[in-house]
Amino acid sequence: MSRTFNALNMAEGQIASLDERLLRRKLRTTESPCDTKARVDNRELKAFCSNDYLGLANHPALVAALAEGAKKYGVGSGASHLISGHSIAHDLLEKKLAAFESAHIPNTRALFFSTGYLANINAITGLARLAKQGEASIYSAKLNHASLIDGIRLASAQTKANVTLFDHQDLDSLENALKHDAHPLKLIVVDGVFSMDGDIAPVEKLLQIAEQYDVLLMVDDAHGFGVLGKHGHGILEQSNVHSERIIYIGTLGKAAGVGGAFICGAAPFIEWLIQKGRPYIYSTATPPAIAHTLLKSLEIIEGNEGIERRKKLNQLIEIWREEMTFSNWEKISSSTPIQPVILGSNANALAVAQLLDKAGYWIPAIRPPTVPVGSSRLRITFSANHSIDDLRELIQTLKGIEQRVEGGT
Ligand SMILES: Cc1ncc(COP(=O)(O)O)c(C=O)c1O
Repeated sequence: MSRTFNALNMAEGQIASLDERLLRRKLRTTESPCDTKARVDNRELKAFCSNDYLGLANHPALVAALAEGAKKYGVGSGASHLISGHSIAHDLLEKKLAAFESAHIPNTRALFFSTGYLANINAITGLARLAKQGEASIYSAKLNHASLIDGIRLASAQTKANVTLFDHQDLDSLENALKHDAHPLKLIVVDGVFSMDGDIAPVEKLLQIAEQYDVLLMVDDAHGFGVLGKHGHGILEQSNVHSERIIYIGTLGKAAGVGGAFICGAAPFIEWLIQKGRPYIYSTATPPAIAHTLLKSLEIIEGNEGIERRKKLNQLIEIWREEMTFSNWEKISSSTPIQPVILGSNANALAVAQLLDKAGYWIPAIRPPTVPVGSSRLRITFSANHSIDDLRELIQTLKGIEQRVEGGT
């Protein structure tokens, strides 16, 4: 048999194994803009699953800004930033993003990327290369997002960086490990808001530890940017921390409603990442029209409309926390728009997601490896565009489904 056939057999075998273990993921195609209602498979579903927390993904002012940006700058950048793809729209966006975090990182500069995945790979591999081979030590929170894990794996392969995992709710073990760590470059990497649990990293305490043991602190605030802090500047604003040791990552395809991401840090770090960050150097710049649209999104996030949208989100979160107390399903205490309901096995999570689908809701089952084995769940997320009635209807639907499932009917 030819090699190609072997590979095909392997692919089919692997997919069959995913099916058997209830781990195969299903791609669903939407026919409507991202909002609280989605048109999927010729049905309209109430969606509680996107990361469009502020409800900006289909905001008329952003739709208009994208059209205006395309008229002004065309639709493509044509090259990587360091060749000829860096436009005035990128420059203005980076200056505005730096201003967002400037109260928390002195001498700050920002670098824009097409995705958070790339920004994380760039930041971690680039920072690890500040040290000689084998001289970097990276501390990673156990529940960090896959893009951080992949960045750390790549940094470790490229630079022989030492990697230690820690529990973000028990920082004693982190401190103990740091006490005995003599590596010249040390870096803590942590999600700001844990993407599948919704809880917030103890940034003040982490920064204290970082100061004490001369460590850099990298915070991936993918789910906090736009959501946390009075002006939506994210976890650094909410925790009121300030340090040149902080490397901040914000993503722009979630609360900001568009796409892309940025790294913010003290200017010398950013200059180094421009010089040595391979994803930055070897990838085509995001279309400038996207950067132009994001400038409008930042204006909304920071202004009165953003403040009102965050108020609405917080109202929804409070109602959920108060009114879901009837449920015996395990919930993780979260003060963010990410509210997980833990159902345990893949089969349980899939069954509940299917009942929700029948009732007209789109809330997919989240399974390993995205979450630890045995903690498959619904990851319910809110948008400022959800009404209080939308939320109360969901709570009633969940109540009915829980009674049915737990009563065995
Ligand atoms: C915590 C976290 N970091 C990074 C990313 C990647 O960002 P992007 O979707 O812009 O690639 C995600 C995306 O889901 C995330 O949840």
